[in-house]
Amino acid sequence: MSNAENIDWGSLTFAYMKTDYNVRCTFKDGKWGEIEVTQDDHINIHMAATCIQYGQEAFEGQKAYRGRDGKVRLFRIRENARRIANSARGIMMEPIPEDLFVKMAHMVIKLNKRFIPPYGSGAAFYLRPYEIGITPRVGVNPADEYTFGIFGMPVGPYFKRGLETCKVAIYREYDRAAAQGTGCWKVGGNYAAGMRATHRAKSNGYAAALFVDPTEHKYLDECGPANFYAVKGDIYITPKSSSILPSITNMSLQQLARDMGYKVECRPIAVEELAECTEAAECGTAAVTAPIEEIYDHANDKTYRFGNKVGPVTLALYNRLRGIQCGDLPDDYGWTEFIDVD
Ligand code: PLP
Ligand code: COI
Repeated sequence: MSNAENIDWGSLTFAYMKTDYNVRCTFKDGKWGEIEVTQDDHINIHMAATCIQYGQEAFEGQKAYRGRDGKVRLFRIRENARRIANSARGIMMEPIPEDLFVKMAHMVIKLNKRFIPPYGSGAAFYLRPYEIGITPRVGVNPADEYTFGIFGMPVGPYFKRGLETCKVAIYREYDRAAAQGTGCWKVGGNYAAGMRATHRAKSNGYAAALFVDPTEHKYLDECGPANFYAVKGDIYITPKSSSILPSITNMSLQQLARDMGYKVECRPIAVEELAECTEAAECGTAAVTAPIEEIYDHANDKTYRFGNKVGPVTLALYNRLRGIQCGDLPDDYGWTEFIDVD
């Protein structure tokens, strides 16, 4: 168990840390059972469980923040609840009821309240909900029994330099998901499929791989752990694609961009169109907004450059989003909910 009193909140990275408790609930005999609170960070499952053999696994990610007012806020958690239910349906798992998901999210935050980073530290309490098929099967069939659990830990930014710019690379020879496959669901298999490209990108000094559409290899899709957007004149453009995850952060940024007077276009973006853009960024719960300095298109040996400082639109979007998440700005859209931790 980690000692929360000794955590240097400002130097946290995006890494696992054992906290006090995690929660679990199992679907068996056609119904969800009691919520179990445990200190054990292992799961004892059958070696032939469908999650191990056939990848029946889906997960989520969301953050809770302590505000200047001392209150703890959770961001758009019902969107995560709906998305994991959708991911579950996508790979033939039992969808988790929305209220059960939200109840367990609140429990994990309350039970680990000493691990919630203080206001202004740049860190957040990250929730990792997951669902796995646990029925033993050697024939390829969905499980009958499922475990849904949530653990959480304090984290720093995913891209370790936060609002400092990063570089990403396009390698058209790797797809993370098929056009009509699982890319729009948050299932573990997509992340395994993206690891080779990500490994190559990192080995070459890039922060991430930026995937293109798996049909024509012409249009931008998303990064391994985050969505993508760019700024072109007074337009916030972001890819429309059947193989990317519908990001809650991106959806929120689109609204904030409109509020700032920008047009929003969600449409296929050809790689070459990057030449007309002034800013580019990755966005997601873990990544928040990570401004991109360079995009290297390996197939054409071409580099698109956006400057080595965060651009004004991304900076303004970041400040608005963070401001709402931490309670520094009014939450006009009702995106946050309070967690009664004390
Ligand atoms: N795309 C992928 C592949 C992701 O893993 C994530 C992270 O959840 C995102 C996009 C961003 O989604 P969200 O903003 O809902 O966290
Ligand atoms: C998140 O942003 O919450 C994610 O789940 C991305 C993850 C792969 C780190």
